[in-house]
Order: sequence, then structure tokens, then C-alpha cells
Amino acid sequence: MNNSLRNEYLKAMGVQQWVARDAVAALDSRAWTELEKQVSGCTLCGLQESRTRTVFGVGNHDADWLVIGEAPGADEDRQGEPFVGRAGQLLTEMLFAIGLQRDDVFICNILKCRPPGNRNPSTEEVSHCHPYLQRQIELIRPRLILAVGGVAANSLLDMNEKVGSLRGKVHNYGVQEIPLVVTYHPAYLLRSPQEKRKAWDDLQFARSVCANGNAG
Ligand code: URA
Repeated sequence: MNNSLRNEYLKAMGVQQWVARDAVAALDSRAWTELEKQVSGCTLCGLQESRTRTVFGVGNHDADWLVIGEAPGADEDRQGEPFVGRAGQLLTEMLFAIGLQRDDVFICNILKCRPPGNRNPSTEEVSHCHPYLQRQIELIRPRLILAVGGVAANSLLDMNEKVGSLRGKVHNYGVQEIPLVVTYHPAYLLRSPQEKRKAWDDLQFARSVCANGNAG
């Protein structure tokens, strides 16, 4: 029996179908709480010693867009929220320019803890943190991943390329083949404002990919 016929029968029988949806939402909510607890108590790598707070991620658990950056900086480490410093403000403005509020998307990083001095994440740190990100992706089931900057893009795609050669195309992430679009890191755009035009093109491209599926 197909789903819509089944639903018709259930409706005719007076069975409240929101029960199943609510049960899934309750399970998801428990899974989020559990995951957040795991991250905040994580001791898998040395970053636990230098961090002030873990930076789990913020936003809409049912977001179409998942925005993934590199790692928390000093402001994020202090506040426990990703992309809240100067680069974060620029990211927020960039999203706003294409009609998205921070609350519409989910924002997180490859690493949940700040590498001292904002150095690049090590391979070991990335691999310890990856299961947390993977679980976030499974729970959100985004329609689009926006990888912000070379570290995020290369780590998600398991590549070693410049952002310039990764942007402008649709990549696929993981077995779910989630469409993934790459753009410049806002910290780079603060240093190289002449590249902002390209980032604007990337976000418009991402918006069309999200609207049309993989076609772009
Ligand atoms: N840069 C990142 O990649 N992530 C943040 O959360 C802040 C700055």
C-alpha cells in the first residue's frame, strides 16, 4: 500500500498521524542533547587543554543550508558560538544578502575547539572531531553544504586544492551525496575585499543549487 493511501485510511479511521512525526522529533531532540553533551566533554585531542569552551554550532536543526567553517577563533572560543568575530559578522551579512538569517541555517566548524594561535587544524584533530560533524550532518540532513574556506572544503572533500579551483561547481559530500558548494573564508575576504564579488557569485550559485537540486 502506498503512503498516501495508507494516510487516507488512517485519516478516515481518525488516527492522529502527527504522533509519528512527533516521535521522530523527540528522538532527534534527544540525539542533539546527547551529541552536544559529548562535544562539551570531549577529551579526544590536546585542544581540550587550551580551549575556553567548545563551539558546537548554532542554528536551525532542520536547516536546508549547513554552513561549515574551519575552527573557532578567539571570540568563538570565549563565547561558545561559531562565527561571532569580525569574520563571523561578514558571514552573517553575506547570508543576509541572499535572504538568509543566521537562524535559517545551521553554522558549525570542522573543529569544535580552537587551535591555539588560530593555527590550521592538524590531521589528527580533524579525524577526532569528524564523527561529531558527521552526526550533525545526519541529524540536519541539509539540502546543501556551504564549505567556507579551503580548510573546510578540502577536509570535507578529502582533497588538497585551492578554493579558486573548487568554487563554481557542485561537489558531493558523503554517501548521501549532499550537494556541496565552496566559497572563500570571510577572514580571507576581510584581507582581500576585491574577492567579495566572487563570494557573492558563490552564494547565489549555492542558492540556485539548493533550489534546483544538483543542477546548479
Ligand atoms: N573562523 C571559522 O572558520 N570559524 C569560526 O567559527 C570563526 C572563524
